[in-house]
Amino acid sequence: MHILHDQPAELYSTFRLKTRLATVIEVNCLADLEKVDTCSSTPLVLGEGSNTVFLQAQTRSIVRFTGASITEKWLDDNCCLLHVEAGHNWHQLVTTTVERQLWGIENLALIPGSVGAAPVQNIGAYGVELADVCAYVDYFHWQTKSLQRLTTSECNFGYRDSVFKHHLTGKGIIVAVGINLTKIAKPVLSYQGLVNLPATSSIYEIYQKVIATRNSKLPDYRQLPNCGSFFKNPLISRADYQRLQRAYPTMPGYAQPDSQVKVPAAWLIDQQGFKGHQINDIACYPKQPLVLVNYGGGRAEDLLQLIAEIQAKVSSAYQISLEPEVRLLMRDGQQYV
Ligand code: EPU
Repeated sequence: MHILHDQPAELYSTFRLKTRLATVIEVNCLADLEKVDTCSSTPLVLGEGSNTVFLQAQTRSIVRFTGASITEKWLDDNCCLLHVEAGHNWHQLVTTTVERQLWGIENLALIPGSVGAAPVQNIGAYGVELADVCAYVDYFHWQTKSLQRLTTSECNFGYRDSVFKHHLTGKGIIVAVGINLTKIAKPVLSYQGLVNLPATSSIYEIYQKVIATRNSKLPDYRQLPNCGSFFKNPLISRADYQRLQRAYPTMPGYAQPDSQVKVPAAWLIDQQGFKGHQINDIACYPKQPLVLVNYGGGRAEDLLQLIAEIQAKVSSAYQISLEPEVRLLMRDGQQYV
């Protein structure tokens, strides 16, 4: 176990706002997790910080699980279950599975962050989400110091949502994820950007296309700090969508199985003229306005002002409230709403 004090927050969040973190505890095994002090206050859990912004200096201890092993179990001739520890980098895992011709997560290439963070917001891209392949999640409870294996249905996955964002928030830490993959080709090419690929595409061709598409639209956080999509795509009722479409005939919408319609937040923000809009060093990325970026000296107040301006304009034009997808943290680890 490594305990680090008074750390620069920019090392722990890809949005790189400058502030301090009082304590960061790095743990790589269950035995050490049992020793983490949870009496004075419940620790805050962090992966690689690609979906977390520290708005203020953090007083609560932060725990990162850094164990990163992969164990492979063949269920039959074709189906393979990978047990992956939470500290493994997600994109590296995708690359390994593509090299080994194991289908299932190739569409999720280049998503930043750790394997342990993936179930929290049920990461998704290009028509695939973690829930499609997740066999289980191993969760260590702070209070009982015990490990629980949650089945996929117990994870209660939804669009960028799971039980870990609701009643398990703050209760423990994800230590491993089980992922079902197969040797049988299973291309998912329905999402725009991939539709032009032939149905016979190899797993490597799909992986390369996803990488090229993401690189053409999304900034690399190592060159331009960001947290990917900043807001969720809002879900509205079909009746509201039809009413809005009469007023705005070009408004895109994707029907969901539960009769709701998903509207691209990027479109709403774009229509309100925010592309490239900047408040000091915080801006809406010109190529994809759903991504907010930090040009270097970004401050929390500028970010909060930009969020508020976007939410206010979108709400007044369409009566739709945009909800941040990114976790915005206050001093004591509470989420800013
Ligand atoms: N659009 C515009 N203007 C733009 C860009 C997009 O109007 O400048 C509109 C277009 O109508 C476009 C639509 O927005 O068709 C959707 O854009 P895109 O396909 O790029 O996807 P997205 O909905 O903005 C989601 C995920 C991404 C994921 C992509 C690809 C969310 C919040 N975001 O973005 O995930 O990579 O689909 O599957 O669901 C992330 O979560 O950090 C992330 C990057």
